[in-house]
Amino acid sequence: MSATATTGPEGVLVGREPYGRLDELQRDPYPHYARARHSDGLTHVAELDAWLVARDTDVREVLRRPEDFSSANALRPDVLPSPAALAVLGRGFGGRPVVVTADGVLHLRLRTPIVRGLSPARVEAVLPYAAERAAALVDAFVEDGAVEFMAAYARRLPGEVMGRIVGLDPADVPAVVHGGHRAEELLFRPLEEAEQVAAAEDVVAMQHLLDRCARQRHTDPREDLCSELVASVLPPGSDGPTLEQRHELVAHLQNLLLAGHLTTTALLGTTVLHLLRHPAQWELLCAEPERIPAAVDEAARYDSALQGFRRVTTRPVTLAGTELPAGAALFVAFGGANRDPERHQRPDAFDITRSPGGHLAFGLGVHGCPGSLLAREQLRLTLEELTRRLPGLRLAEDDPVTMRPTMIHRSPYRLRLAW
Ligand code: HEM
Repeated sequence: MSATATTGPEGVLVGREPYGRLDELQRDPYPHYARARHSDGLTHVAELDAWLVARDTDVREVLRRPEDFSSANALRPDVLPSPAALAVLGRGFGGRPVVVTADGVLHLRLRTPIVRGLSPARVEAVLPYAAERAAALVDAFVEDGAVEFMAAYARRLPGEVMGRIVGLDPADVPAVVHGGHRAEELLFRPLEEAEQVAAAEDVVAMQHLLDRCARQRHTDPREDLCSELVASVLPPGSDGPTLEQRHELVAHLQNLLLAGHLTTTALLGTTVLHLLRHPAQWELLCAEPERIPAAVDEAARYDSALQGFRRVTTRPVTLAGTELPAGAALFVAFGGANRDPERHQRPDAFDITRSPGGHLAFGLGVHGCPGSLLAREQLRLTLEELTRRLPGLRLAEDDPVTMRPTMIHRSPYRLRLAW
């Protein structure tokens, strides 16, 4: 650890090299994207240990050529857990291919049950529950005059909704949500050794809950996403699951849950943040709530929750005039494409009146987000609740907002609101 490292929010070590420079880039990646877009060809960024792809047209090209740009490294951790934490993880499940890192035929096999389980009809069916939970979460603080929105709302609604659509026991949802946050910290943030071990214990506890859910759905299938995943691995009526199939199912479920709730939590935070940083736009939204869907897409474009994912070349390729050998790592910046002036007019302006669409906040092509409808609906319900019930909402003046240093769930640490 460097002499200047200190413990910051969430027990994370701040200032430890090489993470210090990466932290800086992650807290505000936009100047880096702008430089990369202005340079000839691609720019290699040491902090990311990858070629940065930040122009809209180049990002689209990569996403449309999955046979040349593999997803195998999409979730490469920023931090390797310590041997003690790895020993704890050894008592859990998972470590098998997941949809986001799979290519070709395997990718299609893993993706098919997810798309079925997140169909428009399944999303429609979960909306009354999502609306009821959104209202109940606001009920809990509406009389208080102030709230820390991330803890009271943004970290809660997506987990509850994911729990319902996946088919988790509601009593297990808090531990599963917590385990998801801990998995992200363990793999993407530098933690003290003891904290790593504690995080690994939480992850393993979550994995055992997911394993129990999968085994229950094998004997008692229902209309939920967990049952779809189980049926895709274990045909109905078959024995099992074997230990290998249990690992596969937990890996599948864990990936799906993390992809679903951490991202939506992040977008809830940044959407409310940017609307309140632009009070005229918040007032417009309160006066004309029919603008809410466009506002959600503008927030997703302007400060994308998932800033980017990695790809690796499968053969020598030329991209944007840069020759890349086989095995070259790329960071495909959806967040950079979404600020590209060649694609979006005044890209650095947050403007809910612009025509929505054309952004890449939910990706594109074979790996494009299968949960975007569910995410957008949760954002819509939330803004409907807040504009109707708390039109006087504003950012609390005493608490400057700090962004979490991450490229995969970009959001404020805390968001203190008042009214
Ligand atoms: C604001 C919320 C969300 C954002 C910004 C987001 C963004 C994305 C993006 C950019 C990708 C493409 C990754 C790539 O190309 O490598 C993706 C993939 C994925 N998303 Fe989402 N997502 C969100 C919500 C959700 C939800 C609610 C679910 C599930 C219910 C979900 C499940 C997935 C899955 C399973 C994949 C991988 C698909 C594949 O590899 O074929 N996402 N998401």
